[in-house]
Amino acid sequence: MLDIRMDELIRLDEGLISRRIFFDPEIYRAELDHVFARCWLYLGHESEIPNPGDYTTNYMGEDPVLIWRGMDGEIRAFLNSCRHRGMRVCRTDSGNAHQFACPFHGWTYGNSGELKTVPNFDDGYFGDLDKDSWGLHPVSRLASYGGFIFGNWDAGAESLDDYLGNLRWYLDIMIERSIGGIEVIPGQQRYSVDGNWKIASENFVGDSYHLTHSHGSCYGLPVRMLNPANAITYGRNKLTYYDIALDNGHGFTQFILTGERIEVERALAKEMGPEVVEYVEECYARLVSLSQAQADVYALPFGNVFPNFSINDFSALRPIGLYLWTPKGPGRIEVWQWGATDRDAPQAVKDVARIDFARGQATAGIFGPDDTENFEQVTQSTAGAVGQRLDFNYQLTLGGKAVEGFEDVPGHISNYISEENQRRFYRRYANLMDGGEGAHQTYEKPRLAAHG
Ligand code: FES
Ligand SMILES: [Fe+2]
Repeated sequence: MLDIRMDELIRLDEGLISRRIFFDPEIYRAELDHVFARCWLYLGHESEIPNPGDYTTNYMGEDPVLIWRGMDGEIRAFLNSCRHRGMRVCRTDSGNAHQFACPFHGWTYGNSGELKTVPNFDDGYFGDLDKDSWGLHPVSRLASYGGFIFGNWDAGAESLDDYLGNLRWYLDIMIERSIGGIEVIPGQQRYSVDGNWKIASENFVGDSYHLTHSHGSCYGLPVRMLNPANAITYGRNKLTYYDIALDNGHGFTQFILTGERIEVERALAKEMGPEVVEYVEECYARLVSLSQAQADVYALPFGNVFPNFSINDFSALRPIGLYLWTPKGPGRIEVWQWGATDRDAPQAVKDVARIDFARGQATAGIFGPDDTENFEQVTQSTAGAVGQRLDFNYQLTLGGKAVEGFEDVPGHISNYISEENQRRFYRRYANLMDGGEGAHQTYEKPRLAAHG
């Protein structure tokens, strides 16, 4: 157990957080145990591995994992490390295989994780090695929500549904709006950032404060240089936004709660042609059948699923962006990001989505590099002897009241441009780091829509 009390470093009543949590190697080590080995972590989407034998790889904290659909159709996940001497068993990003032979000494595993063959089994182990107890080490818990696969190293963890809590009401909007299901575009963009993972997560959980300043040059671009679906969203407009803090440290920002987003969407669709108009109306109708409150929200904007999985979903006419901020040390993140669309969206929408994904929050997009610069320089200017003694300021809207009047909408609603979501993200983080029970923290009005 870490003998640093997080509640001394994270003083949310005062809106202060010590810079130590963003660089101290001892704290980082504890995060791997207390956060990444206890929380549900995003592993991939079922559409990436549709067939028996399909696999993909990822990380849970710093542990490499292999996500593999067995010949029986079931998805399983394992530590991607040979039980003999630890070699990475699967060394490619994705593909299809009925077994893997470890490249080091040749122990061979089937896609239920079982140890199948061992060189020198008879003359070296004298036939005595108990193969049943030397299969690949499984991820303790695996579950998916609407096709999004999550894993958890903690066998005693709460269910994924409970962990997601009232975030599910919002995920249902993204999932149910999609016609034919969400389909992840094959492959990822990957890049490294010399920054602390929490800086990236908190940027998505609620930092709309930085948008007009950090991305000012993007907002100033002639929007027609981008594509039709960006025209209104990137342009300044008069819509009323809110931030919403959710259970367990999750949070999203830039919500519209009063139905205007569908009007924006209809205007864009009209420019893209009758097929797109029809598509948008069908998306909207699907949400109305879920609930009028969810139809009024229509899209998630952007946010973070605690601890390090961020999503943006601004519109049915733009790509869904999925972002993992995988820690590689206190001062380094490996970013993996995927774009996704509706499987049955018109081709015109898919084309725009792919272009938008590459031009937006991407490695060489117009937003991604601005953020990367912030993440790196925040971390580097925090690493020095003096920098480590100071606090960061999270006092924006501290003491402000929750917005009332949206009784059908779950979560703690703040007026737009707030740091309430970030404070709640760090409350959850502090609770886990201090060895709390990982207590499920429920905020106002939890109303859940079950997802099949
Ligand atoms: S490390 Fe895998 S067979 Fe030796
Ligand atoms: Fe940004």
